[in-house]
Amino acid sequence: MQKTRPILAWEMLLDLEAEGTDARPPLRDRVENALRRAIEDGRLVTGSAVPPSRTLAETLGVSRWVVTEAYGQLVAEGVLEARTGSATRVAERQEVPKATRGNDHPRPRDPAPAPPIRYDLRPGIPDLRATPRSRWAAALRAGLADLPDRELAAAHPFGYAPSRAAVAAYLSRSRHADADPDRVTITHGATDGMDILTRELHGRGHRALLVEDPSWPRLRAVAEDNGLRPIRVPVDDDGIDIEVLAALATRTGARAALVTPAHQFPLGAALAPSRREQLVRWAREHAGLVIEDDYDAEFRYDRRPVPALQRLAPDHVALIGSLSKSVSPSLGLGWMLLPPDLAPPPSAAPPSLIDQAALAEFITRGDLERHLRSSRTRFRRRRQRLLDALTIELPELAVTGIAAGMHLVLTLPSHVPASAVVGAGASEGLALTSLRRYTDTADRPDALVLGYGNLDDALVEEAIAHLAALVR
Ligand SMILES: Cc1ncc(COP(=O)(O)O)c(C=O)c1O
Repeated sequence: MQKTRPILAWEMLLDLEAEGTDARPPLRDRVENALRRAIEDGRLVTGSAVPPSRTLAETLGVSRWVVTEAYGQLVAEGVLEARTGSATRVAERQEVPKATRGNDHPRPRDPAPAPPIRYDLRPGIPDLRATPRSRWAAALRAGLADLPDRELAAAHPFGYAPSRAAVAAYLSRSRHADADPDRVTITHGATDGMDILTRELHGRGHRALLVEDPSWPRLRAVAEDNGLRPIRVPVDDDGIDIEVLAALATRTGARAALVTPAHQFPLGAALAPSRREQLVRWAREHAGLVIEDDYDAEFRYDRRPVPALQRLAPDHVALIGSLSKSVSPSLGLGWMLLPPDLAPPPSAAPPSLIDQAALAEFITRGDLERHLRSSRTRFRRRRQRLLDALTIELPELAVTGIAAGMHLVLTLPSHVPASAVVGAGASEGLALTSLRRYTDTADRPDALVLGYGNLDDALVEEAIAHLAALVR
């Protein structure tokens, strides 16, 4: 249950002018109507405490009597609720009698609530139950306490220096990247990084971007919004096909490619060593840029860690990373590590300095790596349970992409369309995703991308039993 606390609405701006400037209606009515309007508009929500009459009278420059009279009328109508020993509050009611003057401001409607998810098999969501709340809160407190006063109003064009240094150290330590803090920019996440980067590329004359097929649509969409047409390159068990990539680049003039070399999203292959070499060679020979989306490289189980591609060609690879999948999407923090000659203008809306200070703390205290280690152990265990359940319930179906990450791919029988299974699952609280979401290519067999990052351990077998029933 969400805890609700009353809002103390003591800094309340009521526009008495909007309620009429002449001698009529009287001031008392204007205060009363302005209060009604604030409630109707949702500026004053149910349960919020209105200011003490003396405070509101001072704010509005009216006598206290005017305010007590207005409050009295609204209490009499049941719009406000007065309780002895406690502040007067906005009462719970269905309809507020209309204010007598002024425009109506319809409130935007909230979208219809989605049906509740019981079995969360969405890819890309980390374990929400394991969000390191207290460690992040400690990092936030320490980061804020240590922020020198002079930094609070200083310009931090590419991010707060200690955060850039912490990210650079983390990337060289854990991803073997060639990371210099001067080339690190702190972002709101991979999508933000992609936005900044593709704007810059467009400014430099790029009009196309080679992308993996299938791939995560959001990053493609950002590039497209910035004027870079996506050119789809097929992916197989060794990752993106570099020969096709090179041929398409020649045909379209594309000089930039977005790839997921550590763990192809969503099929799960690691880019084969020979293809890594081929890809950076292509970039060097064509003054090209490879954008390395390093999205869940930290979670690998049956294979050795794959170092960042960026290490092979720091002048031709831009690495984008994020805490969204490794820690929590709610943090809205990430980074970019750019080649030296690629310096986009600073972001107009960078992440909050205090959040950046927390990020620096979180990394330097070892909390990020501690969290990654414990997540890896938990995901490995959960993945095994999921595989065991699939072997029991759906032994005839192929499961691929299991060596790393937080999802796997389950190929469906040819007579079972993924869209039907996804639709039927939704009505039973089973959140499923079709591989078709990530590709327009029709010749791949129908499959489901099953995420297990946020699947409740206690429900793994139950979830798969439900899924098996839907497939049959
Ligand atoms: C392939 C891929 N890259 C990156 C991200 C992270 O994006 P962001 O940091 O903008 O949340 C995701 C999140 O789902 C993803 O699926």
